[in-house]
Amino acid sequence: MSILDFGDDEALGRVLSVDTATVVVRVDDVEALRALQVNRLVALQSSLAGHKLIGVIHKITRTALEEAKVADIELGEEAHPEVNLVRITLIGTLLDRDGTRANVFRRTLETVPEIDACCFALEGERLTRFMGVISEVTGGAQRLSLGAYTLDPKAEAYVNGNKLFQRHAIVVGSTGSGKSWTIARLLEQIAELESANAIVFDMHGEYASMVGDGFAHLRVAGPGDIEAGKGLADGVLHLPNWLMSYEALVSMFVDRSDQNAPNQAMVMSRAIVEAKTCFLTTGGHSEVLANFTIDSPVPFAIESVLTELNRLNTEMVPGAKPGTEKQGDFNGKLSRLIQRLEGKRTDRRLGFLFPAAGVADSYTWLDEAVTLLLGGRAAKGGRGGVKIIDFSEVPSDILPLIVGMVARMAFHVQQWSAQGARHPVALFCDEAHLYIPQDATSGAAENAIATFERIAKEGRKYGVGLVVISQRPAEVNRTVVSQCNNLIAMRLTNGEDQAVVRRLLPDSLGGFGDLLPALDTGEALVVGDAILLPTRIRIAKPVNEPLSGTIEFWDRWAAPAAAATLDKAVESWRRQTLIK
Ligand SMILES: Nc1ncnc2c1ncn2[C@@H]1O[C@H](COP(=O)(O)OP(=O)(O)OP(=O)(O)O)[C@@H](O)[C@H]1O
Ligand SMILES: [Mg+2]
Repeated sequence: MSILDFGDDEALGRVLSVDTATVVVRVDDVEALRALQVNRLVALQSSLAGHKLIGVIHKITRTALEEAKVADIELGEEAHPEVNLVRITLIGTLLDRDGTRANVFRRTLETVPEIDACCFALEGERLTRFMGVISEVTGGAQRLSLGAYTLDPKAEAYVNGNKLFQRHAIVVGSTGSGKSWTIARLLEQIAELESANAIVFDMHGEYASMVGDGFAHLRVAGPGDIEAGKGLADGVLHLPNWLMSYEALVSMFVDRSDQNAPNQAMVMSRAIVEAKTCFLTTGGHSEVLANFTIDSPVPFAIESVLTELNRLNTEMVPGAKPGTEKQGDFNGKLSRLIQRLEGKRTDRRLGFLFPAAGVADSYTWLDEAVTLLLGGRAAKGGRGGVKIIDFSEVPSDILPLIVGMVARMAFHVQQWSAQGARHPVALFCDEAHLYIPQDATSGAAENAIATFERIAKEGRKYGVGLVVISQRPAEVNRTVVSQCNNLIAMRLTNGEDQAVVRRLLPDSLGGFGDLLPALDTGEALVVGDAILLPTRIRIAKPVNEPLSGTIEFWDRWAAPAAAATLDKAVESWRRQTLIK
């Protein structure tokens, strides 16, 4: 059974001329012509049974015949009916059956329509069904709906939820174009799934409003949380320094411009391995002891590393002559390293890296943290599912460090899971230009970029999907952007950003890019694996709107003065914790 059964009487018109991929259709019904719009889809009869050709309307013209035939000016009105022409670009074929599969869309043209073949508008339920086919959303499967097509509000717009996350997606748009709302719409539907698993990096605390089953809220330990001794049970996440890769530790603590940098890195690596060995020995983890490397996530006491560094930095060894002493190999060479380490350790903003004794320093802490972050919806008594991590109180210069650590944790856990045991997880990276920048400005940013590049390239194999969200796609790391096979582009006004998006569009559809600045708020151009055909979609409102905080300037200025809370803001700024 075809999903597109048209009666001949429903035809818009008939084919007048055909060329390789362009068809001109003559429409006699003026009413029907008025209803048509450029970019709308049409279906055409094919010469093969069970095939329908699908095309996009490119141009609509309404001409009097005398304009077309300038020579023939003598004839009267009657003999010169209007000729209404619609130019259509063919984009593919819908097959009723292909082998065992019913209703298959192919982006190829095996036939062209014959002259006088009927042309039908694709709208309403038929459009919904057709879109279901192109996004390979089958009848019984769980559906992922974005909203409705701009061209036909009655037709619901589905995308293929497998393909959207398998090969990454990017959501772009100028500020206020509706990205966060679109994400909320996706998250809501994810959260409903029985074994949902997603992590959202929420930079502005916007998604705090998304509550209910399937949502969990976490935040990275800030000075206030550390003071209060909060931990995982309170939804407070520490990211202890022992989770960092050796590379990341070095880039954080060793000043590369220091002439002693290579020595410092070497001494530090030795001291860390020693401290980790000590931890494993004390805990009796002999199997890990035999195999671990400096990069293994094994807790160690940073104090003992410092003690060792201090010892070497002041070490005296026996001199050549008996009874004399000379400075040890590293004497005085580690002062800068020690200073930096001490400095970071006492930086309250970095408290999450150096938890107090008893917090995040046990062997089992990582299991708990990973269960909370990567366990599906059933984990933690239903507190898994969509995990929203609030970064709104984190200073922007350390964002790449933290986000990179969480992403790295997710990737490694997936990588070290057995093939069949991997439970897919999607990472939603809001304001991605802040921590996956094109140009790294710090060692931490370099590490974050490396992690995300790796996920972008290899994530598919390990079941890690990225959703990159940014108002400045031109400032997001290019490798990551180029690996995103799905694009949700909202209104975009900046030329540089538009150029990035255009490059993601298939060649034949580059012209779609011209729509970018003209899109309405909440309207998106969607293209990619998950939908096949570029389509303009009006994203439906999420049930729980994100707190995107659009403030009405004029109205607020016109209203009576609200109670002044400036002193609170200043105090919060001082404490680096929001006082509520
Ligand atoms: N689908 C939609 N339908 C109706 N209104 C919408 C829709 N999406 C967004 N809006 C309106 O636009 C405002 C801004 O949306 P949103 O916060 O999603 O923008 P954004 O692209 O995330 O901006 P920013 O880059 O600054 O975070 C919302 O407060 C809402 O009023
Ligand atoms: Mg936003």
